[in-house]
Amino acid sequence: MVADPIRLAVVGLGAMGTRMLTAAQAHPAFTVVAGVDVVPRTLDVRVVTSLGDVLSDVDAVYLATPPAVHASQAIQALAAGKAVFCEKPLAVDLAEARAMVEAAAGRPNAVNFALSDMAATLEIERLLPSLGELRGVEVRLQFPKWPREFQKDARWLAEAEQGGFVREVLSHFVYLTDRMLGPLAVESVSADFPSAGAAEVAARGVLRGGGVPVHVSAFSGLAGPEVYEWTVWGTRRSLRLSQWAQLSTSDGGAWEPVELGARGSDSARLGLFAQAVRGEHPRDLADFASGLRVAEVVEAFLR
Ligand SMILES: NC(=O)c1ccc[n+]([C@@H]2O[C@H](COP(=O)([O-])OP(=O)(O)OC[C@H]3O[C@@H](n4cnc5c(N)ncnc54)[C@H](O)[C@@H]3O)[C@@H](O)[C@H]2O)c1
Repeated sequence: MVADPIRLAVVGLGAMGTRMLTAAQAHPAFTVVAGVDVVPRTLDVRVVTSLGDVLSDVDAVYLATPPAVHASQAIQALAAGKAVFCEKPLAVDLAEARAMVEAAAGRPNAVNFALSDMAATLEIERLLPSLGELRGVEVRLQFPKWPREFQKDARWLAEAEQGGFVREVLSHFVYLTDRMLGPLAVESVSADFPSAGAAEVAARGVLRGGGVPVHVSAFSGLAGPEVYEWTVWGTRRSLRLSQWAQLSTSDGGAWEPVELGARGSDSARLGLFAQAVRGEHPRDLADFASGLRVAEVVEAFLR
C-alpha cells in the first residue's frame, strides 16, 4: 500500500540529487524520508550511506547517482517492490539497461529526461504535422568547458567509463528525436577521445527515425559559446529548439520566436512520477523502455 504523501528516498546527493531533493521536499505528493550517499552529507534530511538501510521505509526511490550505479540500485529497489525514478542515462552497460527494463515490468518506472514535459517539446509535437515533408533533424552541441560549471565536482563526467557529453547531454536530444520520429536506427556514428580513459571531445553521426535522417555534431573544449540546438527541417516550415527552452520557426525567412507557456520543471516531473506511482502512465514522463532505446543509440557513439 503506497502512503499518501508518497515516501521517497533520494539516492545520490550531488549536483542533481540535491536539486531534486529540494523540489521533492516542497512537493505535496512526496515526503522525503531519507537521502542516500556514499559520501557523508549534512542536509536537512536523514542521510544514510546505503540504499538497503532505507528501502523498507519508502514507497519510491529517485536515483541521482552516477550512471554506472543506476542498474544495481534500480534493480535492488524494484525487487523490493518500490517505484523507481531514475536519472538519465538509464545505464552505461546495455545488458544492465535491458535487465533494468525486465526488472521494471509491472512496476512504476520513469527516467528523468528534462525535455519530456517542457512546453517547447509539446509545441514541437503539436506543430510537427504542419511542417510538410521532413528533410531531416540536426543536433548541434558545443561545450567550451567539460564538465560544465554546475557539475564541476562530478569527476566521473570527465572520464570515458561513464561520463562524457554524449551520455550526459546528447541523451536528452536523442530522447526528443526518438519521441518525434519514432525509434532511431544508427547508420554511422563515432567519437574522438583525447587520451585513454578520458571522455570524448568530439562526436558525430547519422541516425534515422521513420526514414528521416538525423545529423549529430558535438564538440567540447573549444573556444566558443555553449550551444544546445535541435532543428527539424520541413519542406513547408522548420522548427529550432535552442538552449533547451527557446523555440523558433521559419517558413523560409528568418527564425521567428514561438511564444510558449511556462510548462515543465523538476517539480512538474516529480508530479508526473507521483501519478505513475499511483498506476497512471503520464505520456510526458519517459519510462525505462524509452531510456533503453536512448542508451542503445548513445552507447553506439562511444563504442
Ligand atoms: N535530468 C537532468 O537534467 C540531469 C542534470 C544533471 C545530472 N543528471 C544525472 O544525474 C545523475 C547524477 O549526476 P550529478 O551531476 O548529480 O553527479 P554528482 O557526482 O554531482 O552526484 C552523484 C552523487 O552520487 C553519490 N554516489 C556515488 N555512488 C553512490 C552509491 N553507490 N550510492 C549512493 N550514492 C552514490 C556521489 O557521492 C555523489 O554525491 C547522473 O545520472 C546525471 O546524468 C541529470
